[in-house]
Amino acid sequence: MSAAEAARLIKNGDKVATSGFTASGSPKELPTAIARFAEEEHNAGREFKIDLFTGSSTGDSCDGELARAHAVNFRTPYQSNKDLRKAINAGEVKYIDMHLSQLAQELRYGTYGKLDVAIIEAADLSANGEILLTAGVGSTPTFARLASKIIVEINDMQPKTLLGMHDLFEPVDPPYRKEIPIYSVKDRAGSLTVKVDPDKIIAVVNTSRPNEVGKFTPLDDTTTRIGQNVASFLASQLKSGFIPKDFLPIQSGVGNVANAVLGFLGEDKEIPQFTMYTEVIQDAVIKLMKEGRISFASGCSLTVTQPVLEDVYNNMNDFRDKLVLRPIEISNNPEIIRRLGLISINTALEADIYGNVNSTHVLGSKMMNGIGGSGDFTRNAYLSIYTCPSTQKDGCISPIVPMVSHVDHSEHSVKVLVTEQGVADLRGKAPEERAKCIIENCVHPDYKQLMWDYLKLCKGGQTAHSLMAAFALHDAFAKTGDMRKADFAKFE
Ligand code: COA
Repeated sequence: MSAAEAARLIKNGDKVATSGFTASGSPKELPTAIARFAEEEHNAGREFKIDLFTGSSTGDSCDGELARAHAVNFRTPYQSNKDLRKAINAGEVKYIDMHLSQLAQELRYGTYGKLDVAIIEAADLSANGEILLTAGVGSTPTFARLASKIIVEINDMQPKTLLGMHDLFEPVDPPYRKEIPIYSVKDRAGSLTVKVDPDKIIAVVNTSRPNEVGKFTPLDDTTTRIGQNVASFLASQLKSGFIPKDFLPIQSGVGNVANAVLGFLGEDKEIPQFTMYTEVIQDAVIKLMKEGRISFASGCSLTVTQPVLEDVYNNMNDFRDKLVLRPIEISNNPEIIRRLGLISINTALEADIYGNVNSTHVLGSKMMNGIGGSGDFTRNAYLSIYTCPSTQKDGCISPIVPMVSHVDHSEHSVKVLVTEQGVADLRGKAPEERAKCIIENCVHPDYKQLMWDYLKLCKGGQTAHSLMAAFALHDAFAKTGDMRKADFAKFE
């Protein structure tokens, strides 16, 4: 049926789950049609809002359209859309920011009640209910199994040759759970398609819309230096023997910095050919695969720009034995992350002098995107690295502060901090040593003296702080628009 007809099958208050991960594999036609239906209902004076569960972020045709139509009551587990972000920070949308690996099991355990409808983008659908997923998996197998009804959106931009790309494994719940049988990045444990009861499929719609994955901004000096710092640090760890000589699988976060860091790892010839066990597979991975620097990548989605996706689809025979797409519960699974010994590299919004990291809240209160998979990896990695630039907003913000304004990753999990200024290796260091190491190596010269002034105020205890002064940089920014205006003299 048409998307407009299918949208009318959704009821006010329904719990709706969508396939995919990032804009990749996310349905496009249906969410936009639901947004139009919501506007009609609102214009007729009727309430219409849904609770929306996804793999992670989605494209603008989903989160953006629904947010602008004021059609979202509740949203989890991650988003990165500017209009939805605005609605969340305005208190219009209830948002639960969650470790991405946990949503599927939380739904199975019953935390969020029963799912009404799953909307699934497919490359193919068989009469007996076998759904061939597209370039992003997310939590789709669990959504499909738990939802009472399913709407399938067949996207003819997604080739049927995707068959063989997926490995769909869903663990059994405690107390019967067993180990997940993945012992190397290439291992397969599950099925190639999602099998559902065909009677649950209440509609099938067609689309030809491409994925809405944004372009990367060109490298600048800061990203280049961060990338080089990470690559040379890892090369030094290989030389010292901390990283085994065959190297370890890499997990790399989302965004420009993450993409750039991978590019530099690929260029550094001291680092041998490596594999990825990661969440999103970005453009740099495909480029390095073609250059022979990455031999295999396991992920939850191919979040690549359209030309790169077309390149993969046009050369499926070359890529099929080098890529696997898994549910987020498996790509980000703590058990596998520890077993494989990942090197995780993620981006901090803010970090403090003791190594705590804020990935989510701008100046402590406003949601940026969410924790995503960063916590799944950071807590369980062999070596967890955080990167960020040493200044933001033309130097008016120092992402390195005395105390983070929100904690996502604690000092217990964060092992290395990297800015364009340098590398702070926090392993084996007590709190005061960590603070000195971070100020010395990572803080921008404009902020160094301020940080030393703060440290002087910190006296006594295991992790010394001056609670009155800890947010002086944030306070200065709120009052003057420039953290450099902080003055610690008044706290002496
Ligand atoms: N205080 C205030 N604003 C800050 C800030 C800080 N400490 N640090 C960054 N910002 C602002 C930037 O100025 C920029 O603003 P703009 O959009 O107005 O230009 C914005 O926040 C984004 O910063 P940018 O440097 O462009 O970030 P990014 O694209 O590299 O993303 C995160 C950084 C942290 C937002 C992103 O990596 C994220 O959402 N991480 C959490 C999820 C995650 O790690 N997923 C991967 C796990 S597998």
